[in-house]
Amino acid sequence: MSPKKMEAVFLSLSAAMLLVFLLALFYSAYGMGMHLPDRDDEVIPTQVRETPPFDEPGLREVGPNEYEAVFLGMAWAFQPNEITVPAGAEVTFVATTTDVIHGFHVEGTRVNFMLIPGQVSRQSYTFNEPGEHLIICHEYCGAGHHLMYARVIVE
Ligand code: CUA
Repeated sequence: MSPKKMEAVFLSLSAAMLLVFLLALFYSAYGMGMHLPDRDDEVIPTQVRETPPFDEPGLREVGPNEYEAVFLGMAWAFQPNEITVPAGAEVTFVATTTDVIHGFHVEGTRVNFMLIPGQVSRQSYTFNEPGEHLIICHEYCGAGHHLMYARVIVE
């Protein structure tokens, strides 16, 4: 292949890749609804404990086998530190922090986000199998970081 032809091939390949990446970006934004956190999900960091739903952390049923689990992260614990749901339950985790940045990962699931002061994080997951999942803080948050955990029990 002549160098000129090769250059043309690589140029078209680059253009094609750019197109694929742009399509993926548009699909994630408009097809899958992925977006950056917006102002609806903000909370005044110093008033977290007075702001619903964080004034009453815990689990509540919001529909047939649908739950909302409101969690607070703080140095160095989660509140509540245990929730129990029936197998097949769809749980939406709604969480924030009362102090510094923490992590929130439910082991064995794709639930994995950060707890950022002033920001509400949410993610849903359906627990199909009975069992126990540890919730761990995966962002170093001080001396007690390794003690910061909670549990999801699926019955
Ligand atoms: Cu909280 Cu590490």
